Amino acid sequence: MPDADFAIHPVSPTLGAEIRGLALSRPLGPATVSALAQALDRHLVLVFRDQALSDADLVRVSRHFGPLDKAPITENGRLHAPGYEEVYVISNITENGRPIGALGAGESVWHADMTYLETPPYASGLYALEIPAEGGDTGFLSMFAAYDALPDALKRRVEGLSIKHDSTTNSGGCLRQGFAPPTDVATSPGTVHPLVIAHPTTGARALLLGRRPHAHIPGLSVAESEALLDEIWEAAVRPELAWHHRWRVGDLVMWDNRWTMHRRDPFPNGQRRLMHRTQIAMPVARRLTGAA
Ligand code: OGA
Ligand code: MN
Repeated sequence: MPDADFAIHPVSPTLGAEIRGLALSRPLGPATVSALAQALDRHLVLVFRDQALSDADLVRVSRHFGPLDKAPITENGRLHAPGYEEVYVISNITENGRPIGALGAGESVWHADMTYLETPPYASGLYALEIPAEGGDTGFLSMFAAYDALPDALKRRVEGLSIKHDSTTNSGGCLRQGFAPPTDVATSPGTVHPLVIAHPTTGARALLLGRRPHAHIPGLSVAESEALLDEIWEAAVRPELAWHHRWRVGDLVMWDNRWTMHRRDPFPNGQRRLMHRTQIAMPVARRLTGAA
């Protein structure tokens, strides 16, 4: 691979790797692109530090991983960077009294993006333009490691179950536009997926949890579902399995949304945080192929 001249440094035992030696503001050759796609498959989260990316660069780099979605509609409307409908703004900054981005300064709970869709996004890229002095770290969790952490008896209980992913509320706890607050998780809107999915080539099992609030396991009463989900989350979503990224301006972090969850720590709202983000649609070949 003559043009794939970068080094891969894993950042934790379960997921994540820093890619060193690439300036993403320059064009990437095909061997580099395919080596990066393989690195993302293998490490699930890629970190590129000290980048200087325009929105055009961010879009170009992201498109190497697949076609991009347009910025989604958020609690504050559709917020994209000027001139780039694919560049979604995550920020607590307001201009003329109006938010310029989504998610504010609060905590964003553990989640995978948009798993309330039949076909959720494959991956995302988050690029740091302004970073608060404290807080605002982003944590990542391998859902293979989360599955492996379940006690055997719980692995047997979750086998074959499905789970409804709530579509009413975002990861910051805000209602999405057009939805009412759920009153009964058994009937509230959402999409049902298998709770355990298997990697198409390795066969490794992973949990597909989406997020905890308003989830429901079809076929169980609300009380049974809540109890089982609490047990799964307690066993699987363990702080010691997660890896947290402490941001610097110029970092690009890409994650595979199928096999990971992420969360964000809150930060002081008096400090500015500005991220530009792309979202890569799920290529047919990478679709979650169903239950394990
Ligand atoms: C996201 C997200 C967390 C963060 O962009 O999907 O959850 O750290 N962001 O901004
Ligand atoms: Mn997210």
